[in-house]
Amino acid sequence: MSKFYLTTPIYYPNARPHVGSAYTTIVCDVIARYKRMCGLDVAFLTGTDEHGEKLRRAAEEAGRSPADFVAEKRKLFTSLWQSLGIPQYSPENPAGYRFVHTSQNPDHVKSVHWMIRRARDYKIPYCPRCESYLQHDASLKACPRCGGSVEHLPAIYTKRYEGRYCIFDERYVSDGTDPVDCDICGRPAELISEENYFFRLSAFQDRLLELYKERPEFVQPDFRRNEVVSFVTQPGGLRDISISRKRLKWGIPWPDDPEQVVYVWYDALTSYLSGIGFRGLDETGQDSDFQKYWMDLDAERVHMIGKDIIRFHAIYWPAFLLAAGLPLPKTIFAHGWIYYEQDKMSKSKGNVVYPEPIVDALDSFGAPGNDALRYYLLRDTPFGQDASFSYDGLVQRYNSDLANGLGNLASRTIAMLGQFCDGEVPPRPAIDMDDPYWDIGGLYRQFQDSFSEMNLFDAVSLVAQQCSLRDKVINGAKPWELAKSTSTDDKVLLQRTLYQVADFLRAACILLYPVIPQSAQRLWIQLGCESYLGKLTEQRIDQVKWGQLKPGTKVGKSEPVFPRLDKAEALLKLNEFAEADRKGHQAPAKKEKTVETPSGEKPAATEQTSAQPAVAPPAPASDKISIEDFAKVEMRVGEILAAEPIPKADKLLKLQVDIGTEVRQVCAGIAQHYQPEQLVGMKVVVVTNLQPRKLRGVESNGMIVAASVGEEGRPVLATFKDDVPKGSKLR
Ligand code: MSP
Repeated sequence: MSKFYLTTPIYYPNARPHVGSAYTTIVCDVIARYKRMCGLDVAFLTGTDEHGEKLRRAAEEAGRSPADFVAEKRKLFTSLWQSLGIPQYSPENPAGYRFVHTSQNPDHVKSVHWMIRRARDYKIPYCPRCESYLQHDASLKACPRCGGSVEHLPAIYTKRYEGRYCIFDERYVSDGTDPVDCDICGRPAELISEENYFFRLSAFQDRLLELYKERPEFVQPDFRRNEVVSFVTQPGGLRDISISRKRLKWGIPWPDDPEQVVYVWYDALTSYLSGIGFRGLDETGQDSDFQKYWMDLDAERVHMIGKDIIRFHAIYWPAFLLAAGLPLPKTIFAHGWIYYEQDKMSKSKGNVVYPEPIVDALDSFGAPGNDALRYYLLRDTPFGQDASFSYDGLVQRYNSDLANGLGNLASRTIAMLGQFCDGEVPPRPAIDMDDPYWDIGGLYRQFQDSFSEMNLFDAVSLVAQQCSLRDKVINGAKPWELAKSTSTDDKVLLQRTLYQVADFLRAACILLYPVIPQSAQRLWIQLGCESYLGKLTEQRIDQVKWGQLKPGTKVGKSEPVFPRLDKAEALLKLNEFAEADRKGHQAPAKKEKTVETPSGEKPAATEQTSAQPAVAPPAPASDKISIEDFAKVEMRVGEILAAEPIPKADKLLKLQVDIGTEVRQVCAGIAQHYQPEQLVGMKVVVVTNLQPRKLRGVESNGMIVAASVGEEGRPVLATFKDDVPKGSKLR
């Protein structure tokens, strides 16, 4: 059986995984399920990258030892995968993911030491006269260009390192000492000066360029390969890299030099080997998974990563493997980033989206939260490109493709089979591939081609398009009218239409199983397929055929698998759950100091009305505020989703405002000047960091900014001439 080995990056367990980090794991779970259903023997690895300065500092800040800290944080990842329905490997469940962690793992240490020893012994021919590295041939004695004698230099050597290093990304930013910011994360890089071990990366430049040329599939998508090639061929070429750290203690000790620890990327990348049983070639059993998935030259080895870590994977990793004499992966696939409404998710910006509350919020409506999230991430992200996550987009996609698309098609088809065919699969019509209703647009072939090119977005979109085409077929044939007719032709047409649509639904369950496993399984059972076709997981995607439904089989009861969501309600619930989740994960709040007046009385609460006119009385010159004071007021663009009057408060309106990260309820004193329907869809300015308060018993969480016009202070809402994304900050 062909072998397929797929890895996610191993995650830094310094923070809780968010939707962005879960994306890679979800995508890999989808691919692993797909490949298994194509009959491949699949190993899927994920894990945590636990060494390095970043982790040590995070542990210190938490007042914990690094070992305890990472061991606890590691669990956040395994428990998220569990709640996302991604099972862990066990001999009883070989279809699960394997998990590797780099600290407190003696087998991993053995692997890293073995890799380093091999690289120390690896010699690269060098011509001092031409000042260039030559072809990697240990027997080379004379330079083929000048005929001069050749030196054989080890791939690892020692040198003083002085330069700027980004602790956040664990990477060298510049070899100079001048202050510089990391070009990935933008943080200032720190100055480092110490005696280190270096890896002779520059000597691998030609071999790497040959690799990219001979095996274009090595870095995917193509535009990422072009980026890598231009990096390698930049003026001055590749430079050697320091691969040890002297002052840092939280890492794998350098073999035979306990003063130094191994550079975290050498350590982390090696986990792709140790995670499947590698212990160094001498100690790895012949029957280990490492032999099976890595040493078998026909096995397909794919590293799925985010675009930010492509250089480590496409440049360092093949060089480390070449120096160790091990086979290379087949493909490094770099996907894009998931942004939150066009912005990078970051804790400090407060716009990090976590998967668990999303799943729970949708589950609370009886919708399959996990599948909805998986589907949305795949369907709305052209694979390889960046994409923007939004709750709005999630609910919209769920409703359009799953509730109104696949779900509606399934429930109406099953209901019609019940009504017009005694609840049984009708006779199988002749399978005529020229009949466009059978294989509209060559679905299977296109689906498989898209998947094998890692075009997951296209594959999923294809099935969605087919659902709406099949829906049109039903609407065109009008089975409910055919059922009234006494003509045999009409009866045949009725049965043929329903058979074809039901058979398409059977196929859709198989094709979509990797993406929406729980829902596809439910539909499979409703269609009555399990009784004669067996388990859905045992179906072969690469062998899907039309006409596999067995005539005469009873179909199940039509139960809605994808209940339609009311958008406003769903958005409220999503925000409510996200907020509750955020509170549940917050460090306990520091006790607020009570400010006392000189007389000992508590100060009177200041009156704060939401939708305050923004124009305050001019401050006396001495009262001018600093820019820091102004920066304390957080204002964002909000979109009004709903507006309604508040009983017995003739000046107030209750608004639901989407501020990008959540939907806020805000009461605004504008009822005498604005009609509720006039406000819906309006983009306004919301002060978002005010303490919530109650107005006429209704909670108001924020303030809408308005000008106060004329003597009577008529509020005129501040809005925008240009179209601005909601959630944008005002500065
Ligand atoms: N520990 C290294 C990887 C070592 S692999 C030998 C690392 N860890 S990470 O936790 O910072 O990132 C892990 C992965 O999550 C990366 O592929 C990164 O691109 C991905 N993502 C983190 N945030 C993301 C989004 N917002 N969107 C998509 N992927 C993102 O780097």
